[in-house]
Amino acid sequence: MDFMEISKKRVTVRKFSQKPVEDEKIEKILEAGRWSPTAVNLQPQRIMVLNTPESLDKVRQFCSFGYDQKYVDLAKECDDKEKGKVNFYYGAPLVLFVAYDKDECWTHPQSGKSSGATDATIVATHMMLEAASLDLGSVWISYFDEEKARELLELPESWQSVCMLYIGYPADDFEPNAKMSGHRKPLTETCFWNEAPKN
Ligand SMILES: Cc1cc2nc3c(=O)[nH]c(=O)nc-3n(C[C@H](O)[C@H](O)[C@H](O)COP(=O)(O)O)c2cc1C
Repeated sequence: MDFMEISKKRVTVRKFSQKPVEDEKIEKILEAGRWSPTAVNLQPQRIMVLNTPESLDKVRQFCSFGYDQKYVDLAKECDDKEKGKVNFYYGAPLVLFVAYDKDECWTHPQSGKSSGATDATIVATHMMLEAASLDLGSVWISYFDEEKARELLELPESWQSVCMLYIGYPADDFEPNAKMSGHRKPLTETCFWNEAPKN
């Protein structure tokens, strides 16, 4: 598959089959992340592979929030809504928890900004696209309780969490989100050739 095909094929999956992701596929996904560029090649990303019932139960715990009308479109796919909760876990058999080590990042000399979040985000993107090329579904998760995750996963103090990828085979009755997947702004609204738009 060429890159454009993979880019367009990837859609967010929020309903997974229970078929486990094969170890060889997990290795390939991690390897794709390993080859990501990072600032000064410092590779501050730290990835936790979560695929045992115990680990996934922890994910379920730090992704559970009170019901919120704002997320009603997502909540449709969430398994705990009858209990007045939105559980953003979606039943994925594999979760990659993406963090970076704050002590291992490049710091921009002028702004003092750390490259950690950018580096880890690039790694996550590589892994997500590799998953798509292996016919796996995935969803990028930003909305989780970071402090609860730190506690339950016993993360080292120097790690800053960035996101998670839920990965697995899409459920037989999975359907892409009709309002979001496949909808993109035209390039004219987001890309500007040689001149920034005037306000
Ligand atoms: C930075 C980022 C954060 C996201 N956070 C969440 C999230 O917390 N929960 C969720 O269900 N989807 C999340 N998504 C998925 C987006 O909603 C989804 O990518 C977007 O609606 C476009 O749909 P598509 O991926 O099918 O093209 C996130 C995506 C990105 C890139």
